[in-house]
Amino acid sequence: MSDKPVVGFLVGSKSDLKFVQEGLRLLEEFGIPYDLQVISAHRTPDQAAQYARDAESAGLKVIIAAAGAAAHLAGAIASHTTLPVIGVPIPSSDLKGLDSLLSTVQMPAGIPVATMAIGEAGATNAAILAAEILALSDPNLAEKLHRFRKELAKRTVSGSPASPQREK
Ligand code: RP5
Repeated sequence: MSDKPVVGFLVGSKSDLKFVQEGLRLLEEFGIPYDLQVISAHRTPDQAAQYARDAESAGLKVIIAAAGAAAHLAGAIASHTTLPVIGVPIPSSDLKGLDSLLSTVQMPAGIPVATMAIGEAGATNAAILAAEILALSDPNLAEKLHRFRKELAKRTVSGSPASPQREK
C-alpha cells in the first residue's frame, strides 16, 4: 500500500478525538494510510460537502465519520459520495451517545451509513471494518486481518482482554 490516504477519518470536533484513538492506532497497525480531519456537518457544512465530493478523486476508498449529539456528519458525507461511509456515534452529550446513535443510524433508504456501536468500541470496529473493505482487493491486508482475529481469539481464551480498550 502506498502512503497516499485511502481512509478519510473525520471527527465532528476536536473533543471527539479522545474516543477514536484506538481506531486510529489500529489503522496504523494494519498499515493503512488515513487522512484525519476535524469537519462538522453543522459548523463547517461547506467543507464537509466539499470533502465528500472530492474524496473519490483524492483516492479515498472508505470514509469513517465520528460525531456526537445531533450527529449528522456521517449522513451528510454519505449524501455527497458513493464511497462506503462508516458512522461512529460519539457519546459527547448529556444523552451519552443515544442521540448520536439514532442520528447516525436512521438514514433514509438510498443513502447508507454503516453505523457502529457508540464510542470507543465503535471507532475500533470502524477501523476494522474499513480494513475488511480494503482487504477485498488487498491480500496482504487480508492476511493481517486473519492474524488479528487469531490474536484476538488467543487473548480471549487466555483470559486477557479481548479488546485493547478494556485494558484501561
Ligand atoms: C458534535 O458536537 C461533535 O461531533 C461533538 O461530539 C459535539 C460537541 O462538540 P464540541 O462542542 O465539544 O466542539 O458536532
